[in-house]
Amino acid sequence: MALNENIKIFSGSSNPELTEKICKYLGVPVGEAKIERFPDGEKIIKCEDDVRGRDCFVIQSGCEPVDANLVELLIFLDCLKRASASRVTAVIPYFCYARQDRKDEGRVPITAKLVANLITIAGADRVLTMDLHAAQLQGFFDIPVDHLFAEPVLSKYFKSKKIENLTIVSPDIGNLKRAARYVQHLNGELAIIHKRRVSDREVEAGEIIGTVKGRNILMCDDMISTAATMCTAAKIVKEHGAKKIFIGATHGIFSEGAAQDIADSLIDEVVVTDTIPQKENVKKLKNLKVLTVSEILGEAIKRIHKNESISAMFS
Ligand code: R5P
Repeated sequence: MALNENIKIFSGSSNPELTEKICKYLGVPVGEAKIERFPDGEKIIKCEDDVRGRDCFVIQSGCEPVDANLVELLIFLDCLKRASASRVTAVIPYFCYARQDRKDEGRVPITAKLVANLITIAGADRVLTMDLHAAQLQGFFDIPVDHLFAEPVLSKYFKSKKIENLTIVSPDIGNLKRAARYVQHLNGELAIIHKRRVSDREVEAGEIIGTVKGRNILMCDDMISTAATMCTAAKIVKEHGAKKIFIGATHGIFSEGAAQDIADSLIDEVVVTDTIPQKENVKKLKNLKVLTVSEILGEAIKRIHKNESISAMFS
């Protein structure tokens, strides 16, 4: 069977633009499927393409509406499995519910593990995802997980800007490894902010380790949700004498109020990727740039299909 007959790529409703771009990169059509609702609101999915014995991929991001998109992914996986696909890969550009990954107080769930269980039980044979909130979430699955990084795409963009006197700032300790990758590719210096989360919407920034005075700053993170981390970090580096402030994050969640807080902040440019489609109010941000990760995802899908190395993409 020719490549484009044996591989089937389907799109959930969360990010059809990204699926289109991935399919364009691979030179295959988007799989035909009907996603509808019963009168009571329950979803029904029907694959219009024959998937028997095919290598199937479903692309679905865990963005808003989070619960609806997650359930849709589960139903899609079940649908493909029952239609006798030979292998089903859940392609989850943004993996939701990842931040509740441990019991840091009593009587709370571990949603990251719950979601991993649900995806596996629904029928996924493997998972392809990008910039998990914590890399060790891979271990929550007992099926193979391929974990991609958006850093090469973001680094390429920032490199093209030829920013002088660059310091890469990790806005918290947990992000240090990611920041180190940018340092390696952009030849900047490294600095770290000691962050304390006060509530879901509030963070406090403490000491800075490293030099930001007179430097242009690139702050990188896996996600921008309320933007409290980035706006607070921008304020503190500015107070310590930083010049321009660029921020780069893989997942632009931009929860309610985040776009306005960024507009009111000291940040010069915000760069995110298209793992999540942007809402209209976010698109209006004058200093927002969205880069596509479709080629990285497309290449990884091709390599999974052909049993080739994924890690070689990042070496
Ligand atoms: C924290 O551990 C993460 O890496 C992000 O810094 C955080 O989740 C971003 O959230 P927010 O934009 O709400 O501060």
